[in-house]
Amino acid sequence: MPRLQIFIVSTRPGRKGEAVARWVDERAREHAKFEVEVVDLKEVNLPLLDEPEHPRLRKYQHDHTKAWSARVSRADAFVFVTPEYNYCSPPSLVNAIDFLFHEWTYKPAVFVSYGGASGGILPASMGDLPLDFGTLEKYGCFVGSHAVVILSDKDDMKAVALNLMKFFEDESCGQCTPCRVGTEKAAKLMAGGPWDERLLNELSDAMRDASICGLGQAAPNPLTSVFKYFRDDLERPLKVW
Ligand SMILES: Cc1cc2nc3c(=O)[nH]c(=O)nc-3n(C[C@H](O)[C@H](O)[C@H](O)COP(=O)(O)O)c2cc1C
Ligand code: SF4
Repeated sequence: MPRLQIFIVSTRPGRKGEAVARWVDERAREHAKFEVEVVDLKEVNLPLLDEPEHPRLRKYQHDHTKAWSARVSRADAFVFVTPEYNYCSPPSLVNAIDFLFHEWTYKPAVFVSYGGASGGILPASMGDLPLDFGTLEKYGCFVGSHAVVILSDKDDMKAVALNLMKFFEDESCGQCTPCRVGTEKAAKLMAGGPWDERLLNELSDAMRDASICGLGQAAPNPLTSVFKYFRDDLERPLKVW
């Protein structure tokens, strides 16, 4: 039976990738046409590429490279379960791939990617917009990892946006005030009664303009999407999740 290796790419403490990989692992085992092996890059624990020769020559000098080569060689296909960091592949993935060459070649590979939820929310009526760079920005949205969440017409968009704002509050590293205080204040205002559009938009602008990184800059997107596209939900009382 061919062997499928499922890679957990994230090595981050508290990573979500393990849960996603578990789901992929279950699906692959149900399929029952592969021998499935989960490879956790955190456990593999490769150093940064430290081989002097190009891997195509296979003149590996370190035991960790020889062990990595033997492990990858025994696979016939790969699934990489990977997040996106700053619009790129995580360094753990690039490093693990760069260590080897022939071990990867002529084998099918699939990427299962997941990402943050700050790209904004669009109504179903705009479902035909091309999901690409440059096509969504004028609607106040953007693509990150190209992951899409489908919400139903039974979902309350205020509750969705509040849930996401609380997530960003939790994820904020706290280094800069507009993001640290802004996410907390926005979540409080959103949970506390009718939404004050002027105040929340002002707060969103401050977070966008003055946060250091993409997390704080994009955190208001779901909130401002509700003002733009889901005005009916604004009139209704907030449903609790
Ligand atoms: C350094 C860093 C950069 C990130 N950059 C992006 C990004 O570019 N696109 C995105 O959709 N999510 C991004 N996120 C959010 C991640 O998708 C989210 O934290 C995810 O849970 C990361 O996977 P992990 O928990 O398995 O490490 C980033 C997270 C971190 C820690
Ligand atoms: S914007 Fe980025 S750097 Fe600033 S607090 Fe938020 S997560 Fe930290």
